[in-house]
Amino acid sequence: MKTKIAVLTDLHFSKSANPAIPERHGEFADILLLRAVRRLNRFIKPDLVFIGGDLVDRPNPGEGRELLPELKKIIDLLEAPTIVINGNHDPEIGVFKKIMGKPADFLDINGIRFVPFFDPERPGYNAFRTPEEIARMRQLGAEFNGPLVSLQHVPLFPPEPEANCPYNYTNADEIIKVMREANYVLALSGHYHEGFAKLDHRGMSYIAGPALCENRFGYTVIEIDERGKASCLQENLAMPEELRLVDCHVHTRLAYCNENMDIAKSISLGQMFGLDGIVISEHSAHLYFNLGNYSRSLNYLEGLEASEITDRTPEYFSMYAAEANTFCRLGMEVDYDCRGRKVIRQDAWNKLEFRNGSVHFMDLKNPDMKAIEKEFLFLNEAALASGIDALVHPFRIFRRRGMDLPRHLFAPLVELLKRYRCAAEINYHTNEPPAEFFRMCIENGVKLTLGSDAHNLYEVGEFYPHLKFLREIAPDYEIPDLLIR
Ligand SMILES: [Fe+2]
Ligand SMILES: [Fe+2]
Ligand SMILES: [Fe+2]
Repeated sequence: MKTKIAVLTDLHFSKSANPAIPERHGEFADILLLRAVRRLNRFIKPDLVFIGGDLVDRPNPGEGRELLPELKKIIDLLEAPTIVINGNHDPEIGVFKKIMGKPADFLDINGIRFVPFFDPERPGYNAFRTPEEIARMRQLGAEFNGPLVSLQHVPLFPPEPEANCPYNYTNADEIIKVMREANYVLALSGHYHEGFAKLDHRGMSYIAGPALCENRFGYTVIEIDERGKASCLQENLAMPEELRLVDCHVHTRLAYCNENMDIAKSISLGQMFGLDGIVISEHSAHLYFNLGNYSRSLNYLEGLEASEITDRTPEYFSMYAAEANTFCRLGMEVDYDCRGRKVIRQDAWNKLEFRNGSVHFMDLKNPDMKAIEKEFLFLNEAALASGIDALVHPFRIFRRRGMDLPRHLFAPLVELLKRYRCAAEINYHTNEPPAEFFRMCIENGVKLTLGSDAHNLYEVGEFYPHLKFLREIAPDYEIPDLLIR
């Protein structure tokens, strides 16, 4: 059995950017942390998360105390057991523990004991483990029949082999000697922003995780087997730049279901995450119908013939114009009414540089499944015939209502996509894209788009599952060749 540990460290959360250290994006640390937390919960599923300190950038004169509770709320979303320690940038230990909660003395998971240390600093950004803490370390090993892991902020490693790290414990030799005697197999640390990959030395391993707040926003996933052998994988929140990915589906604050969207921040995040561009794409039905009428599905039942239309497209276009740069394109996620007419006026449609089309509404209460399937194909063809560039989240409507996917409609929809030369979107927003359908798209030359469908900033350009999906369903293809340009 393997035990999986994720290391998130050095967030340096701050209210504003630090002009002296431009590579440090502490002003986005809450978003980076939430992105990591969501990715861990949904896709990586570790047995333990270690948060290695320097959660905030400026402990004084109170910014840190103000910001730490915000991070605590996000950390509490983690589904795995979590150990949080402080770093030299965090408020003093009493305040830190009061906000973050006092961690357990140790945590036993799958027969491995994890022991956190809150050690004092030494000049030159080094650290020191006190005789009392070394005694505790020894005692926790003596009373436990299995491998142990030492968790601390400042990297701990033997001084003699080359670790390429300028920081260490001033009494590292003494600590490591006791660790070896007490069956510790691994020391996990943060603090050194570059981090260093697993260093193996005389039967023990040493790892320093990279800073989550610096390009490429890395974290570490470690697996330890029951004998205490560790393997280590370094991953990034950022996307591989060489793939030149575009997020074709990013919402704005005008979506009724948005949480914190902001066009300027979406652009900054898209750039930070190594994308080639983003498409701002608001629901057309949200722009023409007020929340009450939208909730009553008037956009679907009556379309633009409804008696009350509240046109917010001028606000959408001016908001876009105020923030846009060459990194983004003006798009929309166009809805269709029950007669297959697009819910967008022609002058607005003509302004768009990219058109997503979607089926969000259907008469799913109809007891006749054949009629439901007929309407599904009718609305999809209406969207395709209207001239959209991409059909977003195909088949999601069934999954969202808890219905089985009508798999026999995969082939007819692929035929339609081919006929209208339209791309299909891979979308994980409240969705799992059907592999068989996308395999058929690829075999039939239907191009794909990647959409985060971001309603929260942490989602912008989050294509971790999309890329994994494409590598699984199309191992013989280069990813850029599958996507529209
Ligand atoms: Fe630090
Ligand atoms: Fe949608
Ligand atoms: Fe959407």
